[in-house]
Amino acid sequence: MYSFHIPLDRRRLFRSLLLASGGLVTNGLYAEALLLTPRATEGPYYPDHLPLDQDNDLTVILGGTAPAGGTVTEFGGRLLKADGSPVAGRTIELWQADVNGCYVHSKGVQRGKERDHHFQGYGKIVTNEKGEYRFRTIKPGLYTGRTLHWHIAVNEGGKRFLTTQLFIAGVEQNDSDGILQRMGTPEQRLSVIREFRPKSSGSEELLGTWDIIVGETPEEPEVRRGGPKAKGPRPEAPPDRN
Ligand SMILES: [Fe+2]
Repeated sequence: MYSFHIPLDRRRLFRSLLLASGGLVTNGLYAEALLLTPRATEGPYYPDHLPLDQDNDLTVILGGTAPAGGTVTEFGGRLLKADGSPVAGRTIELWQADVNGCYVHSKGVQRGKERDHHFQGYGKIVTNEKGEYRFRTIKPGLYTGRTLHWHIAVNEGGKRFLTTQLFIAGVEQNDSDGILQRMGTPEQRLSVIREFRPKSSGSEELLGTWDIIVGETPEEPEVRRGGPKAKGPRPEAPPDRN
């Protein structure tokens, strides 16, 4: 019967579309490409001595006697390819200033300040099957010349795929931050400035979400450090200032 064949053909068509698109069919039948998360310099404070505790909760150090100072802030999301598929099994690293603006780095203590020894300063997590990751940390401390920012790196098998920074919407210094203002295109830049809101009503803890979109090509170390190859026409890798 003719009427029977119509849905069958439609099913076949749908199946072939599924195959052609690797199983991912979105509103417009084909997946739209997501904007890559823009790169940023690693800066000078990637830890030169890694802490013993390197888990994804930076607010408490294993065996520590007190929690870190500052506003507890959680963020998480998915690590995705530009076609929207999840990237599992990659390590996401986070390092940042403590409540006093100091880093876990031998030169990372700001003038007149002291490091918060209850803050882990660095942590990492491996993305799960769905590409998901999550960190519990603090709102970064402010230090001279920069806006509030978290440093993020994505690695697999000893290769760095992305070095970037994450920012908080509404922070006054964002508009004058040279590194943020030179990251990627204006649309890419918006993708690294996220809203952080109270975790629940009345909570003093903040919560944000952030999907990281990563390309297939590992970074060259010169680009990550903001060296010679990063200068010139590559707006995603500004010179290393902070
Ligand atoms: Fe920094």
